[in-house]
Amino acid sequence: MKNSEPAASAVVRKALEEGLISARCPAAVFIGLPAYQQKLAELSEAFPYPALNALAVKTNPLIKMLRMAADKGFGAECASAGELAIAKKAGFPAGCIVFDSPVKTEQEIKYALEEKIHINADNAQELALICRLMKNGLYGRKGSIGLRINPGLPLNGYNRYFSAEERNNITGMRSSKFGILLDQAKALLTQNNEFSKILTGLHVHIGSQKSPVEMLIRGIKNAVGLAEYLNQSHNYQIRTFDIGGGLPVKYTDEDEAISFREFSNLLYSEVPSLRKYRVITEFGRAVFAKAGWAASRVEYTKTAWNERDEKLKIALTHIGKNMISRYHDILILNADGGLKTGEPIPQSMGNFMCFPAT
Ligand SMILES: Cc1ncc(COP(=O)(O)O)c(C=O)c1O
Repeated sequence: MKNSEPAASAVVRKALEEGLISARCPAAVFIGLPAYQQKLAELSEAFPYPALNALAVKTNPLIKMLRMAADKGFGAECASAGELAIAKKAGFPAGCIVFDSPVKTEQEIKYALEEKIHINADNAQELALICRLMKNGLYGRKGSIGLRINPGLPLNGYNRYFSAEERNNITGMRSSKFGILLDQAKALLTQNNEFSKILTGLHVHIGSQKSPVEMLIRGIKNAVGLAEYLNQSHNYQIRTFDIGGGLPVKYTDEDEAISFREFSNLLYSEVPSLRKYRVITEFGRAVFAKAGWAASRVEYTKTAWNERDEKLKIALTHIGKNMISRYHDILILNADGGLKTGEPIPQSMGNFMCFPAT
């Protein structure tokens, strides 16, 4: 970040001069379009057609940016009905949209079926509901239905990557909230022949950021093994495999990160049978994180005290925790956009989400 601080300061100065950031418009997002286009090119080169590269809308819901990707044949991965609406508005055709919300209502499922949007079911109950809706004739056509598999990887061996708090909540491990555990999925799908008539894909998503690439590949490999088994021994016709996103980004020198090309080379060499499937990817962070940054006025400042009775300085801004997670660099500028000098003072940032970004 140090090297780019003067450039960021110059951009904010200009934005203030031109009124792009003002009391009435207190925050702005700046995108480096060449960097974004470059990432899109790298992604489609690493996972070429017929793969569908569905960008995770949660990681950048800006319609203009999404539209650029839609125009180039990318897809959109949507974690909610709101994101589906954004994807539609950005111009993604239904066949390029992946509906991944882990808590879809019946109405949302009916909508996705009618629109012929690919649905990744999260659990057994949701899959049964989809099956019932399709069987009822109302939605009797062949849908494009996936099931999210949680490969249930052992924490053993990955401990060092996660803090104690994170260990209970890592996607792809037995404790994860998302998807159905691989063993449970195997039992469910082999015991219920009905599902073989509707299920056309499997889905895995492991990440984000902290999970090593080796862990992502291991999770995908285990779930591809299940697809192979179901196709070979249980009359399933699974043709699509959604590998999710989760590729880490290099924020600091300590972070391990690899390019899309390196990832796809490694993935296909470790999981050659993945070549039999139409791959869907759902990358977010690795596409967008380095392509832009956001600036906000510090609207108010105040103080609080921690349990050791130490004074905490708090700055209230207009940028939510959804945009500034703990991985991102933060630069504090003067009111005119100039670089601040002097000793840095620790601050907590408050905003409209209740989890503070420090
Ligand atoms: C199902 C799913 N797919 C894709 C993504 C995007 O992940 P990333 O930004 O790490 O690539 C997420 C992120 O939470 C997700 O939950």
